[in-house]
Amino acid sequence: MRAGWYEKTGPAHDVVKTGEIDTPTPGPGEVLVRVHASGINPSDYKRRANVKAAAEFSRVVPHSDGAGIVAGLGAGVSGLREGDRVWIYNGQWKRPLGTAAEYICLPARFVKPLPVNTSFVEGACFGIPAMTGYHAVHVGGLAPGSTVYVPGATGRVGAYAVQFAKWRGARVIASTGGGPAQIDAVKLLGADLVLDRKSADLEARILQETGGRGVDRVVEVDLPGNIAFDERILNENGSVVSFGAAMVPSISVTQMGRRARNMSVHFIFVYMLADPTFEAVCAGVNECADAGKLKHRVGGVFPLAELARAHDTAQRTTATGHMVVEI
Ligand SMILES: NC(=O)c1ccc[n+]([C@@H]2O[C@H](COP(=O)([O-])OP(=O)(O)OC[C@H]3O[C@@H](n4cnc5c(N)ncnc54)[C@H](OP(=O)(O)O)[C@@H]3O)[C@@H](O)[C@H]2O)c1
Repeated sequence: MRAGWYEKTGPAHDVVKTGEIDTPTPGPGEVLVRVHASGINPSDYKRRANVKAAAEFSRVVPHSDGAGIVAGLGAGVSGLREGDRVWIYNGQWKRPLGTAAEYICLPARFVKPLPVNTSFVEGACFGIPAMTGYHAVHVGGLAPGSTVYVPGATGRVGAYAVQFAKWRGARVIASTGGGPAQIDAVKLLGADLVLDRKSADLEARILQETGGRGVDRVVEVDLPGNIAFDERILNENGSVVSFGAAMVPSISVTQMGRRARNMSVHFIFVYMLADPTFEAVCAGVNECADAGKLKHRVGGVFPLAELARAHDTAQRTTATGHMVVEI
């Protein structure tokens, strides 16, 4: 089968190759999927680019996310049939062969039906970004009438968080540091109010818009950078949900004051969701997509032969949407 891979870590153009490798065969409980689209996430290019560590396996076919068609079933798999359109989760997570290939074998629980209104390219954005956005909105429960603040709303995860929060009936205040064009892009996602993250009156605007109470939830991409701010704009009993990768090993949290009382901080990591949360998140993503309520910010589509360029583009850009490889 055609595939892309790297055998050592480093810059994409130095280490990423494409060519032919053996097609895998599904073992018991596994599904063989003909991959049509493979989504790139920060974890994919960070692992490939991290020259301080060796590649996880002697050959890594990268990417966790993808979408395609069921091409074979291992013994004992039920609920899926050959020809089904599916999206895939945790492709290259703790295993060498990810979705940047014509075929992948995965445990059946990581293979979910792709809504009919969703293309393969769009489905390749579900695994990490949509699931993280969904979980960030729902973890610990979101009370009716809540106001959710999403900084980084132009991000892969943030854009989905805006939409899932709206779908749940929350009032959504979002922000971006990307200027007027990005503010307009976030408005198209349905946010009730989109603010300039870099403006001096951001805190005052959020408090003014919430009658001085503050927001009930922050979906936080940069907890170390923003926790002090988040504490000041959080309502009593509010929660901060941190999904961004840790840039510093520890943060300080205020234990005194009105907002700190009953405040909760959730650290979420989508790759290791336990059942039944995992199944609820997958079902919720599909329900929202089935209802036609999800927009997808695809920033670029590349052929497999240009996998190195796709990685490089994903790594160099932020807030531009998903980079997807078509196979
Ligand atoms: N925990 C998990 O399971 C999980 C899952 C997915 C991703 N992640 C991690 O989450 C991070 C974001 O991933 P992504 O795919 O969404 O990245 P992305 O598409 O590049 O988006 C990042 C967003 O963060 C915003 N931003 C940058 N600095 C900010 C700051 N200081 N305060 C507020 N917003 C800021 C940018 O928006 P503006 O510049 O427009 O404001 C940008 O839209 C990465 O570190 C990734 O590894 C973790």
